Amino acid sequence: MPNKMKKIGVMTSGGDSPGMNAAIRAVTRTCAYHNIECVGIYRGYEGMIEGDFKDLTARNVKGIINKGGTILKSARSKEFRTPEGRKKAYEALKAKEIDGLVLVGGDGTFTGALIFNQEFGFPVMGIPGTIDNDIYGTSHTLGYDTALNTVVEVIDKIRDTASSHNRLFFVEVMGRDAGHIALNVGVGAGAEEILIPEENLGLERLLESLRRSKASGKSSSIVVVAEGDKIGKNVFELKDYVEENMTEYEVRVSVLGHMQRGGSPSCFDRVLASRMGVKAVESLMEGISNQMVGLLNDKIALTPLEKAIKGQSKINKELIRVSDIMTT
Ligand code: F6P
Repeated sequence: MPNKMKKIGVMTSGGDSPGMNAAIRAVTRTCAYHNIECVGIYRGYEGMIEGDFKDLTARNVKGIINKGGTILKSARSKEFRTPEGRKKAYEALKAKEIDGLVLVGGDGTFTGALIFNQEFGFPVMGIPGTIDNDIYGTSHTLGYDTALNTVVEVIDKIRDTASSHNRLFFVEVMGRDAGHIALNVGVGAGAEEILIPEENLGLERLLESLRRSKASGKSSSIVVVAEGDKIGKNVFELKDYVEENMTEYEVRVSVLGHMQRGGSPSCFDRVLASRMGVKAVESLMEGISNQMVGLLNDKIALTPLEKAIKGQSKINKELIRVSDIMTT
């Protein structure tokens, strides 16, 4: 394999997700395998601007494949959005003699990488890391599978208390602009209704559905609500609305929050991170840049960063139908 790289930088940026450490390990070890030096960049673009670097060897990424969060830490940088900030970052990378970058993050991270490449011609490769699974060009982002398992386990527990008290629970899950988590855990945990940003069910249909389930003999119910749901009300207002219109229900709300981003990555996420790390480094070695490594039909595939940023990850409509049938 022709190699264009002597030293590769790796960083994590944006919201952390389980599997980021496994990706750092994979990038570092692929570099070591090909006799390329590897440098960890702390706190995403913030650390890049400040030159907050650490040399990484195959041995000092031991024992992290199973750890949640990111050993390199993560941040969202305002300064990198300015030309001055990006120039500082470029100078810091040059001073450290870094030839190419692997960036693990979401669309904000990729947008920064693309601008950086356009301005300085710096080779960049992206690995999608976010629990939201809202990136075009991959069926799975790093951390998504782990988050699904975490959330399903929690909803199972909520169901225990919901059914003991004959209550209706609104469970809010993460997903600022996308309903992938909500839809999948909704089906996996047997939710009565699933509210996602991509489909506006409407308040009346929600009431109708809850009335139907009450009439069919159900004494407790779980409604999964994606954080970014556009039904027009936040989850607490939804509770008030349903309580006002259906006095027979006692309603509770559980906002799961950041616990969904933590925890040890699933086997799926560890394997995915390892595959993506290898591909990202070997692509840079071949002179490939401005691409995101994704998983499509269980094969590692590259998508131009520009497409990954602009394209929309699509919700699985089949699952909506499955959910409707399951709640009969
Ligand atoms: O990483 C994506 C995400 O988890 C979204 O689902 C959520 O809206 C957001 O991050 C919260 O980010 P933070 O609280 O870290 O700013």
